Amino acid sequence: MEKSHMLQFSCHGDQRGWLVAIEGNQEIPFDIKRIFYIFGSDDSVVRGRHANRNSEFVLINVCGSCKVRTEELDGSVQEFVLDKPHTGIYIPRMVWKDMYAFSKDSILLCLSSEHYDNGEYIRDHEAFLKELKGCNGN
Ligand code: TYD
Repeated sequence: MEKSHMLQFSCHGDQRGWLVAIEGNQEIPFDIKRIFYIFGSDDSVVRGRHANRNSEFVLINVCGSCKVRTEELDGSVQEFVLDKPHTGIYIPRMVWKDMYAFSKDSILLCLSSEHYDNGEYIRDHEAFLKELKGCNGN
């Protein structure tokens, strides 16, 4: 059972600065169908608070920092710090995620394997736990 985990991307650097290149099905473990980004949050905000039945994600804080807490398919909880533009988190399907502790300059880039479909979001935590039990055959 795959769990959320950090990804490290290669940096191409020279006297002009740095460049990170990421491609679907290469550094990103799926075909990228959707990109969105979150900015203008701060440390009083918690975003996310949902799980997705179909979408996989990679989250990259291209500027500033934030934290991501995940509740995984196996019931375990993880906390990640995103504070480098060359690191990201891969998040599989059916993982509950909260994003928080945003620095004021945070720009959180989110890549997704699916187009937006509000119907595949589970926004109620109790409902998520129930579906998770179903997924795990309990
Ligand atoms: P929301 O799911 O609440 O954001 P977060 O995951 O950060 O908690 O989305 C905020 C709004 O943006 C909501 O009205 C739905 C809309 N939205 C889209 O239209 N397309 C998208 O791909 C996403 C992620 C959100």
